[in-house]
Parts: sequence; structure tokens; C-alpha cells
Amino acid sequence: MKKVLFFVLSAFLFFTGCSRTPKLTFMVGGAPNEVQYWKQVIADFETKTGIKVTLLEQSGKTEQRLQSIQVALRGSQPDPDIMLLDVGWIGQIASAGWLESLGEYGIDPTPFFGGIITLADTFDGKFIALPVYVDGGLLYYRSDLLAKYGYANPPATWQELVDMGLKIQDGERKAGNTNFVGFLWQGDKYEGLICDALEYFASAGGNFLDQTGAPIINSEANIKALQFMVDLIHTYKVSPESVYTEMNEEGVREYFQAGNAMFERNWPYAWGLHSKDDSPVKGKVGIAPLPGFEAGKGASTLGGWHIAVSKYSDMKKEAAEFVKYVTSFEVQKALSMELGWNPGRMDVYKDAEVIAKNPNLPILREVFINAVPRPSLPYYTAISDVLQAQINEALSGKISPKAALDSAQEKVIMIIKEYGNK
Ligand code: GLC
Repeated sequence: MKKVLFFVLSAFLFFTGCSRTPKLTFMVGGAPNEVQYWKQVIADFETKTGIKVTLLEQSGKTEQRLQSIQVALRGSQPDPDIMLLDVGWIGQIASAGWLESLGEYGIDPTPFFGGIITLADTFDGKFIALPVYVDGGLLYYRSDLLAKYGYANPPATWQELVDMGLKIQDGERKAGNTNFVGFLWQGDKYEGLICDALEYFASAGGNFLDQTGAPIINSEANIKALQFMVDLIHTYKVSPESVYTEMNEEGVREYFQAGNAMFERNWPYAWGLHSKDDSPVKGKVGIAPLPGFEAGKGASTLGGWHIAVSKYSDMKKEAAEFVKYVTSFEVQKALSMELGWNPGRMDVYKDAEVIAKNPNLPILREVFINAVPRPSLPYYTAISDVLQAQINEALSGKISPKAALDSAQEKVIMIIKEYGNK
């Protein structure tokens, strides 16, 4: 009899959900060491607040991360409660009505980069996300090889990068490292390519859209910039063909870190990994702003990941506590010290310990303030898909830069016609 009673009671508790300890879920991805560190942040939060959190791990690629979030939100699922969103697609998620306004939970956006909050985190006058870290494209170079080949400074123009890269590539190959390449960047068909392309386009005076939002994709400046990207691979051969077949952030980072490249375009996270004790290039790496077609005219794409709470969360109050914790001075500082990330909070940039650990931080702060944003539109990913396909096709040499950008222009006009007035 007792057994039967126990069974009935357990079944009742199971079905009413009373036996379940409520747990927050946080959906996040990234490089393996980043996911590992999130586990640490979660453990500290649990100890402090007694609120349990489960990490829902995603892949490292931004598109795949977007898809898993969209699947959950489209289905009005209560999980994930909290997620990390790429700055490129916050507009899209917010305009679908999927994000909770954070102001109602006493979260204060004032300490964060104001321009970024206005540009990316505000929707319908409410702020719906906060930047956990800010990204901007940077040039990494081998400082030891720079000195070995008699250069005083990293390149200020793209042409200088080509000249230096070729000389060093040639020298290192002759010295026995046949895998050595001059310059690596993100050219695979994915969001990273759009970030890189925008940097070349903007440094030539171009962009994807003009101030009024009209597409200017096949402008002369953009065609010239894309031609240069193609030439890096096919004419100068300072970048290998693998750039357009497979190179994403981690691919580039690993190749450079193994000691096989002179220059690397990457985000700030690579600094922390290049400087680790087991890194073959530890102590041999420098960081500089990206070169421009003219000296001083380089451009850096604004990247970064922002934290937000789902409209469908069944634990919104606790989720807001987690957001507060992750965006607190203390955790923002820890993320910067441990992962080399650049905090969304501006006050962390003045912290002496943070600056001692990452002396590049004050320079980076300037890079972020001037970084070029991707268009913040509800249908941005549709535009990005078109650009990715056309630009990658041009990089492979199958079509000319002009044909690629003419076709992208036409397609983007159609997308804007279709979605623009919705
Ligand atoms: C980085 C940036 C993000 C960008 C992505 C592209 O994660 O922070 O904004 O979209 O790279 O791969």
C-alpha cells in the first residue's frame, strides 16, 4: 500500500512539475576555452545566488548559433531563458518580438558604450540587450619576424602588407617552412566574410548601404576593394586559396598560432589564446589597427555578443539577475582578464589590472568607438546571405568582382522591396 501511495505521489509531483527544481538555461557557444569559462561564471553565480543555471552549448559559427536560437523562439519555448546574440542579428530577433525589455528589471545601461546601446540594443525605445563584449577587426603580426626582416613597424597600408607579407613568406619558405603564408583572413562563405569585406569596402570609401538605407553594393569603391581581396589570393598569392574555401576565425587563429603565418585578421579574442603558455607564438605577436588603402584610413567592423532574455522565459526575474551578474564590473573584468575579451562596460577599460594584463586595451577602445556597423535591419541575414554567396564566388575566381557585386546589388534591392515596408 505504501509503495502504491509513493508511486501515485511521485507521479503527481512529476506531472505537476513540483518535483523539478527550476533551472535557468543559458544558450551560448564560441571557442572551446570560452565555453569552459562560461561554466565557471555559472558556477560562481550559482554559489552567490542559489539560482541554478544549465548551459545549452552551441557551436562556434554565428549562423548555426542563430539557427538554434530561432528554432527555440519560433516554437515559443521557455528555454533558453537567456542567450548571447551576435550584434549583427539583434535587430532581427528583437523585431520578431522575442526579447524582454531589460529596463523593467532595474538594469542600467549607462556604464556601457552608449553608441552601441543606441545602435544595437534599443528597440522601440526600450533596451533589450547589453553588450557582454565588443569586437572589432584587428591586424595581428609576428613581431619577431618583423624585426628579423628589418621592418620597424607593421603595415599602415594594404600595399605595404602585401610587400612585407610576400618578402617574409618567401624567406620563411626558403628557410624550410613550406606551409608558411603571408596573410590569413576570414573568406569562407559565412558571416565572418561579411565582416572582413566591410573592412576592405569601408577603407576604400565604400559600404553596403548609404545613409538613407539604399544599397550601394556595386559602387566603384566596393569593386576596387573586392578586386584587392581577390588579388591577395590569386595575383599576389600572399593569402592561400584555403582563405575562401574554409577559413573562419578559429581556422585562421590556429594556423597563425602554429607559427605558420605572418599576418592575421582576427577579433580581439585571439590575443588571449596566442599569449597562452602553450602557444608556439607566445611573446612573438603584436596587434595593430587594420591597414587602409591609404595610411590612417583603415576600417574595423563592429562585432560583439550581447546578452538578452527571451520573451518566452518562465523565469524572467532570475534571468535578469543573471544578466546583471554577467554585466557587472566584476564579471566584465574577469572576462577581459581570462578571455582577452573587450568589455561592453567602459569603466573596465580604466582598471589598472586589466590594462596591465592587456596593454592593447586603451588602443582597442578607440577601434571600437570608430568601428563600422553592419546594417541593423530586421532582414539583415537575408542581405548577408546574398553578399556571402556573391563575394565568396568572386574570391574563388569564378566571377569578376563587378559581376558579383552587380548581382548582389540587384538581389538586395529585391529583398528591400519585399521586406522593407513590412
Ligand atoms: C565575431 C563577432 C561577430 C561576428 C562574427 C562573424 O564573433 O563578434 O559580431 O558576426 O565574429 O563570424
